[in-house]
Amino acid sequence: MFENLKTQPVDKIMQLMQMHREDPREGKIDLGVGVYKNAKGVTPVMKAVKEAERQLLETQETKAYVGLLGDPAYHDAMIDLVLKGAVARDQVAAAATPGGTGACRQAFELIRMANPNARIFTSNPTWPNHLSIIDYLGIERVTYRYFDEETRAVDFDGMMADLDGLKAGDVVLLHGCCHNPTGANLNLTEWQQVIDKLNAKGALPMIDLAYQGFGDGLNEDAAATRLVAASCPETLIAASCSKNFGVYRERTGILMGVSADKGKVAVTQENLSFLNRQNYSFPPDHGARVVTMILTDPALRKMWEDELEETRLGMLKLREQLAGELQKLSGSDQFGFVAQHRGMFSRLGLPADVVEKLRVENGIYMVGDSRINVAGLNAETVPALAKAIVDTGV
Ligand code: LMR
Repeated sequence: MFENLKTQPVDKIMQLMQMHREDPREGKIDLGVGVYKNAKGVTPVMKAVKEAERQLLETQETKAYVGLLGDPAYHDAMIDLVLKGAVARDQVAAAATPGGTGACRQAFELIRMANPNARIFTSNPTWPNHLSIIDYLGIERVTYRYFDEETRAVDFDGMMADLDGLKAGDVVLLHGCCHNPTGANLNLTEWQQVIDKLNAKGALPMIDLAYQGFGDGLNEDAAATRLVAASCPETLIAASCSKNFGVYRERTGILMGVSADKGKVAVTQENLSFLNRQNYSFPPDHGARVVTMILTDPALRKMWEDELEETRLGMLKLREQLAGELQKLSGSDQFGFVAQHRGMFSRLGLPADVVEKLRVENGIYMVGDSRINVAGLNAETVPALAKAIVDTGV
């Protein structure tokens, strides 16, 4: 049987991670995978997470199964973090999932179950794994324009024109904040126009919220998601705790199905439970429990919010430093967008051969589409990156 298996396409981000790991050079710079690193290049366990884990170790008395949907206290805490009263609690069905990827996967499966004819509209570009999972599930996919390669900002007119092609029942996948891979985001006025378009077309928004707190702030980064949830008849939200709690390997995520019609919540919940049972039975609990403890304990929450804010401001500072260095060395404002983008990523707009050259000659690793993870930089490596980029003559 195994001889029938075909080689699968490589995931470029995972491949880059491996290449960086195997590169013996001292001064190599990893701007690839979206993992936060502090100035020492370490992905730290956040202080509040450490403390919650310590408490958990002391107090937890069982590892028995929790429930197919995870712990209801986790749902409540996460629904409050993401939606903060934008809709009533009883409008939201929720399931804990293994990370944000698990939430996306369950959302796509739910869409397919509910409407086999639904097409999913994805931004060009988007996180490559969105495309891979949608294709794997055999769901029809349509691309909408999103990023203007010239201005490195959102091509909003192009986006709206492409959303004109929506049919009732289609789904539009949107990044709630900190667009991956571009770093370019809609403002709230534009979000409102997207909402109006979706509602006029009878299409459903699905929001991937993987970086809440990494862009403009915890509440600011959820503002669009809250607006959508409060304005559309139905919304799917796939949220991740990997980045903002730094619990990457604990696989901590949640899928929410918001309905204006409360009568639909029970059946949505039941289907989420069914899907969890089919795919992995019980979702992982450790990360979810730690997150719940942090969100519901005022002291832990403050510790977490403070550290997250420090992380966010650190990334902003690196953005400003990089934009400044590039300005200084190139004598042009062509990279000014780096300071405008938000979140971990920016797509620099460098040609593939330049990206390759930077890797081979300078040991600088960025994704092939020239996406950089800003958090992979520090005050010392920013000038080196800027110099290497400008030296390529772009
Ligand atoms: C990324 O885009 O680098 C992250 O979301 C990590 C991943 O799983 O690809």
